[in-house]
Amino acid sequence: MSLFLHHRHYPQPILCFLLFVIFKGVSVSGAKFTFLNNCDYTVWPGIYGKPEIGSTGFELTKGSSRTFQAPTGWSGRFWARTGCQFDNSGRGTCSTADCGSGEISCNGATASPPATLAEFTLGSGSMDFYDVSLVDGYNLPMTVAASGGTGSCNITGCISDINRKCPSELRVEGGGACNSACGAFGKPEYCCNGAFSNPSTCKPSVYSQMFKSACPKSYSYAYDDATSTFTCSDADYIITFCPSLIPESAPRIPKEPDSASEAGSEQTELASASWLADMATATATGGSTRSGASIVSLLLLVVGFIFTIFG
Ligand SMILES: *[C@@H]1O[C@H](CO)[C@@H](O)[C@H](O)[C@H]1NC(C)=O
Repeated sequence: MSLFLHHRHYPQPILCFLLFVIFKGVSVSGAKFTFLNNCDYTVWPGIYGKPEIGSTGFELTKGSSRTFQAPTGWSGRFWARTGCQFDNSGRGTCSTADCGSGEISCNGATASPPATLAEFTLGSGSMDFYDVSLVDGYNLPMTVAASGGTGSCNITGCISDINRKCPSELRVEGGGACNSACGAFGKPEYCCNGAFSNPSTCKPSVYSQMFKSACPKSYSYAYDDATSTFTCSDADYIITFCPSLIPESAPRIPKEPDSASEAGSEQTELASASWLADMATATATGGSTRSGASIVSLLLLVVGFIFTIFG
């Protein structure tokens, strides 16, 4: 009975802080996306999604990686531009997957096909959905691997070099990319529109089957959902361009250089924004796993704390 008798005398700021910590602890979610360039050339990843997660396009030299934090509920796509040439003022274009912005940032524009796409929808307190899609064609091999999540969390993507197998009628950019049949011919039976706008009428074509046999886990046409969509909860994700093999586990990320670059400042900002979240999930010590157990123990700690104070 007397437990909450004195609550009015209780200092409000501490209570607010505790509620904030509890709230942060429970709602901490979203995901970190790490881009790893395993190609032996520079790529220029593009990011399209809402809300913006710190960049819409950037340069990624071979062997380097870069990480962005996305919030719960984020939905969007990633791709990699190749053969870009930007002048000293940052103006330029790319030979594949260009976003038409005329600069390194894509500023809300998406890739012009053909482009290999990684697509994500981060669940709000539930599963994330992800896939690698060749529905808009293909420009380079790409995989998506989940790290530290729970669920099936399978690695997906396309390791195969489809540019080398691309039929001549689909080949573009001197073999630097491979169109989808929809992109090349625009016919409703390939694009799954018009009379073919549902799964019972839009079937795999000889072209989509070529993509599917090369990359069995990727979307090869619009209704290829059953074998192409993957789910995971509470994971971070590694997007690898030119993975050489399907990794058995999540690929290793090289240490990022300690520089005062754009990336550095972004990470600092990120660190300050998520320190509470990190504290709540006990990852501040450098661990990368997020366990439900740590949230539960935090809650028990906080509840115990409240009882101690109010009691
Ligand atoms: C994920 O991988 C497991 C083990 O390899 C497999 O049994 C399962 O069918 C895969 N899930 C999907 C959705 O492909």
